[in-house]
Amino acid sequence: MTKPNKLLDSLLKPFKSHKKGIENEKKDDLEAIAAQEQKVFSFEALASATRYFHPENKLGEGGFGPVYKGKLDDGREIAVKKLSKSSRQGKREFVNEARLLSRVQHRNVVGLIGYCADEGEKLLIYEYHPNQSLDKILFHTNRRQELDWQKRFDIISGVARGLLYLHQDSHIMIIHRDIKASNILLDQKWKPKIADFGMARLFPEDQTHVNTRVAGTNGYMAPEYMMHGQLSLKVDVFSFGVLVLEIISGQKNSSFDLQADSRGLLNWAWKLWKNGRCSEMVDMALGSFKLVDEQVKMCIQMALLCVQADPAQRPTMANVSQMLARPGTLAEPTRPGYPGVRYGRKRGDRTSSYSKSRSDASSSGDPSSSRTAVAIAATTTTTTTNPSSRSTDVF
Ligand SMILES: Nc1ncnc2c1ncn2[C@@H]1O[C@H](COP(=O)(O)OP(=O)(O)OP(=O)(O)O)[C@@H](O)[C@H]1O
Ligand SMILES: [Mg+2]
Repeated sequence: MTKPNKLLDSLLKPFKSHKKGIENEKKDDLEAIAAQEQKVFSFEALASATRYFHPENKLGEGGFGPVYKGKLDDGREIAVKKLSKSSRQGKREFVNEARLLSRVQHRNVVGLIGYCADEGEKLLIYEYHPNQSLDKILFHTNRRQELDWQKRFDIISGVARGLLYLHQDSHIMIIHRDIKASNILLDQKWKPKIADFGMARLFPEDQTHVNTRVAGTNGYMAPEYMMHGQLSLKVDVFSFGVLVLEIISGQKNSSFDLQADSRGLLNWAWKLWKNGRCSEMVDMALGSFKLVDEQVKMCIQMALLCVQADPAQRPTMANVSQMLARPGTLAEPTRPGYPGVRYGRKRGDRTSSYSKSRSDASSSGDPSSSRTAVAIAATTTTTTTNPSSRSTDVF
């Protein structure tokens, strides 16, 4: 290139690359739109994928309606959740929400493949997971042996990672509000996937919904949420703690009756912990497996920290992930929360006491203070507890 041409070229370069940039942006936009559009399925396609919602294809039914197994024309196996028609949510809102949620991607969160809002029907299409949900194995007498300690520990760690993503690392903050064994799906390699994230926002709480949901989530709800509607990330932390105790003990909190006087799984676990007998809590089905005692003990202590009555005392999911990755000396858990429990805090004790050995201010912070929550209850507000009122709060 001659000198004047070189000069001309260098002068034009920024404009050329700017034009190129705009073209690339347009292309990205078009690709994003095309990708988005592929998430919309016709009712007919889903009906044919599920053999017209044949009862043999039904995987189960929860508070929102039945779930069917299906196969798309391209060979992909899917689970189709057919939402009950009683939902009062508008089509536009549903589509917006489904679009938003289909951008949530993490290896421990179930993938939303697409959605359909057609002919008065609203459906959500998920990846199909052959091992289905954790409850079907953990609470099944003949199947719980399939879950050795390593698998259980990996499930606990995976769920913690998924929740951390929903709380902190995704583009929108999501409070799940319904963490429980039936909402943890297991893939072929037993990797856990959190399901039904954001469903609370998808459905306004009508009567049917409330009834079913209360029955469905009994035993997992944090007392401050259940009794006062106080919603924060710590509501999920509480449910996660319950789930961990269930995974370790093989006992279902909502139907726990090992000891009449124990007032539920949480209190039973706490009493055993206090008396230095926490090994008695471990699922008998794990008996034949080699247990990593210290790891089991750490998980029990971590779970008890998560289910403490005072939400401010509970760790964040970031704290939990640290405990699982690099266990240090954890704090002594205080009394677990259950409806009717009171909690009081010592004067000046305003920080989360999840760990004695870590005082990292950023890790004890609740990200809810700076981000907008997606799953906000229709009748409640998201709260970061006011420290001055904590010592007098009564449940
Ligand atoms: N993606 C999926 N892959 C495989 N099985 C699934 C999938 N999604 C749901 N299921 C199965 O369908 C059943 C019903 O799911 P659904 O979420 O409707 O009910 P639930 O979890 O029991 O209650 P809730 O409505 O409170 O979430 C689950 O127990 C699970 O075993
Ligand atoms: Mg579910």
